[in-house]
Amino acid sequence: MLIFKTIPEIRDFVKREKSGGKTVGFVPTMGYLHQGHLSLVEKAREECGTVVVSIFVNPLQFGPREDFSQYPRDFARDSAMLGDCGVDALFHPTGEEMYNGHHNTFVEVAGVTDCLCGKSRPGHFRGVATVVTKLFNIVQPDRAYFGQKDAQQVLVIRKMARDLDMPLAVVTVPTAREPDGLAMSSRNVYLTPDQREKAPVLYKSLRAAAEAVSAGERDVNKLVGMVKQVINNTEGAVMDYVEIRSLPDLDEKEWLDLPSLMALAVRFGKTRLIDNIVLGE
Ligand code: PAF
Repeated sequence: MLIFKTIPEIRDFVKREKSGGKTVGFVPTMGYLHQGHLSLVEKAREECGTVVVSIFVNPLQFGPREDFSQYPRDFARDSAMLGDCGVDALFHPTGEEMYNGHHNTFVEVAGVTDCLCGKSRPGHFRGVATVVTKLFNIVQPDRAYFGQKDAQQVLVIRKMARDLDMPLAVVTVPTAREPDGLAMSSRNVYLTPDQREKAPVLYKSLRAAAEAVSAGERDVNKLVGMVKQVINNTEGAVMDYVEIRSLPDLDEKEWLDLPSLMALAVRFGKTRLIDNIVLGE
């Protein structure tokens, strides 16, 4: 696997691959990789001749009181994992290479960023949309891979790619889960053993709502109330939000349209976990 730190180097590499007729698949990440990231790489490997992964902890998508400086990093472990998965090139730029100290241009996706994590983390999706636009411009992939765990992020990126006529396909890969249902996340390492034991309650409560929908429940308030009750009865769990929103526009509804997204964010101490389920899938 080749490792590039600069924009001209990764651009030259991709240009050579494309001139040899290869389809380029791209998996952007912030590193500290787990099976969820590897499932994106595997999908890209299946569908593309060349696979590029980026590792860049993007300061723009963290709020001033969020965990940018503590975000877990282990480049040696990550690059060994990616090499073993048959990745062709790893792009690992510095903050200076990406933002150059003089960055004044931002990508703002309106509407779908107003609710859910967009509401709890102001500026987060502006940071995501800006860095993903830059990475797409740098790598120029044919296909880009994102996890369903970050459902709102995928909707934002799809909308952005369509609105700005970006010539690539945005591919969504199902959420990778631990055997007890907890969605895999780089932030799971922050959990204490007790919090880790309780954290599967996110997915359990979503599954209970999905079962109620299968049994015919369509009242959005009732479904949201069910999940809130389960989370609020879990010691140490603090609800940030739980909502049901339409797909793909994330509109609010009182009566459930199928399919719809049910998404939640819950804090255990300082650790904020997210998860979601598509109701009526
Ligand atoms: O999902 C992530 O890891 C990040 O938000 C992304 C897409 C790599 C942008 O920094």
